[in-house]
Amino acid sequence: MTTVDEVKSEVRPSWADLVGEDGSKNPAKTLAVRVLNYVTNHVVAHVPSYRVRHAWYRNVLGLSLGDGSGVYMGCFVWFNGPGQVRRNGSVLGARTRINRDCCLDLRGPLLLGNDVSVSAEAMILTGHHRHDHPSFAFETRPVVIEDHVWIGARAVILPGATVGRGAVIAAGAVVSGRVAPMTVVGGVPARPIGVRPEDSVDYRLDEPFHLFE
Ligand SMILES: CC(C)(COP(=O)(O)OP(=O)(O)OC[C@H]1O[C@@H](n2cnc3c(N)ncnc32)[C@H](O)[C@@H]1OP(=O)(O)O)[C@@H](O)C(=O)NCCC(=O)NCCS
Repeated sequence: MTTVDEVKSEVRPSWADLVGEDGSKNPAKTLAVRVLNYVTNHVVAHVPSYRVRHAWYRNVLGLSLGDGSGVYMGCFVWFNGPGQVRRNGSVLGARTRINRDCCLDLRGPLLLGNDVSVSAEAMILTGHHRHDHPSFAFETRPVVIEDHVWIGARAVILPGATVGRGAVIAAGAVVSGRVAPMTVVGGVPARPIGVRPEDSVDYRLDEPFHLFE
């Protein structure tokens, strides 16, 4: 897996795909990206076949999906164009599962390790607006989720967060900054509420994929 320091070294703007060389918007490109967005999130995300969805995420968006990783139905994928997803190098590691109706923000780099479990309706965000900037500037910050992390239902992971190996994010928690490995955090903002035993992360998320999930 890519290390945290390799991807967290910079804050990157990511409107490049929609903006012409002279800084003006490119209407044809903007329309194409909007259509691609619609098809990805309102058609492909609801096709009841992992094979079809994964082929789209890999080949059209350029998302790297490790062996045995799975994105359930209803996932909302935020992106500015396939070139931008490819350039960011966003990756879901091996056997990592994204449960139903999650939101993956791929406008900035998103790196999930192996055997990561993301529960239903969780949001992982890599982009936001600078509320302290005169033009409400948009920026992205990489998010890194290391191996064997479990993210509970409806948790929100904010831009720039790093969740260490084996950590648990309680249902409904809001995470910013760094979560230490093997720590259980909960609440808003998320604070430590427990510790995971070292021998509790010896599993592989290798259940089969079923149609209609
Ligand atoms: C994080 C979680 C695993 C903790 O379980 P646990 O280790 O059994 O923890 P406990 O229930 O003993 O709670 C420990 C403390 O954390 C608090 N806590 C537990 N879950 C919390 C949550 N989601 N948000 C905030 N605080 C929480 C408890 O109130 C308790 O606080 P206290 O010590 O002041 O009484 C569990 O609460 C959770 O959120 N599970 C996710 C469920 C889910 O998303 N399921 C769908 C996918 S299968």
